[in-house]
Amino acid sequence: MILLDGKLASQAIKNELKEKVLLLKKEGKKAPHLAAILVGNDGASDTYVTSKVKNCEEVGFTSSLYHLPDTVSEHDLVHLIKKLNVNTDIDGILVQLPLPPHIAEEKITSLVDPAKDVDGFNPVNVGNMVLRKSHGSSSFIPATPYGILLLLQHYNIETKGKHAVVIGRSNIVGKPLSILLSRNDDPGNCTVTLCHSHTKNLKEICLQADIIVAALGKPAFLKADMIKQDAVIIDVGINRITDLSKKNGYVLKGDVDFEKVAEKCSYITPVPGGVGPMTIAALLMNTFKASQALQTAVTKK
Ligand code: GUN
Repeated sequence: MILLDGKLASQAIKNELKEKVLLLKKEGKKAPHLAAILVGNDGASDTYVTSKVKNCEEVGFTSSLYHLPDTVSEHDLVHLIKKLNVNTDIDGILVQLPLPPHIAEEKITSLVDPAKDVDGFNPVNVGNMVLRKSHGSSSFIPATPYGILLLLQHYNIETKGKHAVVIGRSNIVGKPLSILLSRNDDPGNCTVTLCHSHTKNLKEICLQADIIVAALGKPAFLKADMIKQDAVIIDVGINRITDLSKKNGYVLKGDVDFEKVAEKCSYITPVPGGVGPMTIAALLMNTFKASQALQTAVTKK
């Protein structure tokens, strides 16, 4: 079994970005700028956004964090996004999800300028992802699926002709990843089965998979008797399990029963240190790409 080390692979990507930013600065150009919006005080969301901002600094990007109370009105959030959309200093905008129930998530994600939508959640970018062939094109694909593609690429894992089973149909991970893995691209060209809470015979379907992506949010859900020998296992789960012996009061567990599954599979992502760091690397890649396109457009004006 080979561990798919997201820390290592993301560091390689971040080192490349760091070099590119240094070059930009040498040419007298501005560093990419990410604006992150966090609404409320959810512990996990707070951790993710803090880490995104910290990683921006690490590669030489600038960033601004807008931390709004969970009582913020939809109107005020809309106003902030509209302001960020027209600010030419800002290249990328992300609104951390989930949002409080009184705010319509779809309305908000639709409002982010598609050219700054580094999360790839705006329907324009979702449409481009479905219609276009390559993830190299000038649109954005959501950071977690993009990070998983980058990880498969980093480890030269063949996807062409393979049967990929994706468990979980969220708009952030499962649904876009099922489309990306089925595209005529590399990574891609898989036969994809998208499974969800109403799937019958899930175990039988998983047993046919060459690649399994577990993205359903249930700790240790995927067991060793659900996978075939030498399958590739991608664990997207980041479940907080109470553990009062830890300083922060919890441990992180993935959606895969790691110890047992690791004995049977060919490759597996750890939690933490697998998909998580790749999500951030992909977000940084998207932000750099947004900055290149936007700053070229500003110079031409
Ligand atoms: N919530 C969970 N994953 C993500 C993500 O990748 N981006 C944003 N904006 N919110 C999330």
